[in-house]
Amino acid sequence: MEKVVSGIRPTGKLHLGNYFGAVKNFLKMQDTAECFFFIADYHSLTTHPTPENLHGNVKQVLAEYLAAGLDPEKSTLYIQSDVPEVIELYLLLNMNAYLGELERVTSFKDKVRKQPNNVNAGLLTYPTLMAADVIIHKAAKVPVGKDQEQNLEMMRTFARRFNRMYKVDYFPIPSAYNFGEALVKIPGLDGSGKMGKSEGEGNAIYLCEDEKTMRKKIMRAVTDGGPTEMNQEKPEAIQNLFTLLSVVSTPDTVEHFDALYNKCEIRYGDLKKQLAEDTIKFTAPFREKVADLHANTEYLSKVAAIGAEKARESASQTIKEIREIIGFRKF
Ligand code: TRP
Repeated sequence: MEKVVSGIRPTGKLHLGNYFGAVKNFLKMQDTAECFFFIADYHSLTTHPTPENLHGNVKQVLAEYLAAGLDPEKSTLYIQSDVPEVIELYLLLNMNAYLGELERVTSFKDKVRKQPNNVNAGLLTYPTLMAADVIIHKAAKVPVGKDQEQNLEMMRTFARRFNRMYKVDYFPIPSAYNFGEALVKIPGLDGSGKMGKSEGEGNAIYLCEDEKTMRKKIMRAVTDGGPTEMNQEKPEAIQNLFTLLSVVSTPDTVEHFDALYNKCEIRYGDLKKQLAEDTIKFTAPFREKVADLHANTEYLSKVAAIGAEKARESASQTIKEIREIIGFRKF
C-alpha cells in the first residue's frame, strides 16, 4: 500500500470548509493507503504559544479529528513531538539546506512581511522540518493544498539531494496525493470565495462553536436586495447560502427555498434561519463526540501512545539506516 503522510496544524478548530474538504479526503485516504497523520506541534512553536495554549490546542485538534472520523486503528495518528526521530532528520537535512533557497519560499517571505519582529530560524527552516515529517516514513505521497505546493517542491529537493549526495536510492521522492473527483467547495459567509479562517471574523462556521455564535454569524451573512425576475441566476453571495444549505439540510428544504427564489418570493431572513437551525442540528453530534472525548483523557492518551509507538517504529528504522549511510558508524 502507498504510504501517505500529512501534518495537521494545531491552530484553530475545524470549520465546515475543513470538514467537507481536508477531513473528507483524510477519511478516503485512510481506507486506501497506509496513512500517517500527525499534529504538527513542533511547527506551531514558530508562533510562540504559551504552554497552556499549546497543550490545549493539541488536545482540541486531536479530539476534533477523532470525532470527525479519523480512525487510529486504520491510520497511524500521532503527535509530532512524541517522535523525536523527526528532529534528528530535520537537523541532518538542515546541513544541506541553503539560506538562499529557504529565503525564497513564499510563505517565509509572507511571514517576514507580516511579523518582522519574529523572523526566527524555525520559520526559515519550516520546509526542512516538513520534509523530515514526510521522508522519515519514506512516504510516497503528501495530500497538499495549493498553499503547500512550494513546501512539497522543497521536500522533493531535499530527498533528491540526500540521495545524490550519498549516491543512494534511499528516499522515495514524494509527490502530491491525487484525490480523484473534486469535492464541493464550501463557501464562506462573506459573499465571496471559500470558507477560511484567514478571510476575516464571521466568515467561517466552526463545528465546535456555540449555537448562539453560529446563529449570529449566519444571520449576518451577506445577501442582496432579492431577485427581481423569475428564474434569475443567483449571484455568488446567494448561491453560497444555497450551497451551505445543500450540505446541512435535506434536498426538500433546498428545493423549497429554490422555488421561492425562482418565484421572487424568497425572504432571506427565513432562509438564514433555516440554515442556522440545520447547521446546528448537523453539527450537534460532532460537538457531543468532542465533549465525550475531552472527558475521556484516558482514551486520548491511549490513542496518542499507540500512534507514537507505531510512528517511532517506522521513524527509528529510517534513522538507523541513514546514520549508517551518512557515516555515523560503530567502531
Ligand atoms: N505545513 C502544513 C500546514 O500548514 C502542516 C504540515 C506540517 C504538513 N508538516 C507537514 C503537511 C507534512 C503535510 C506534510 O497545513
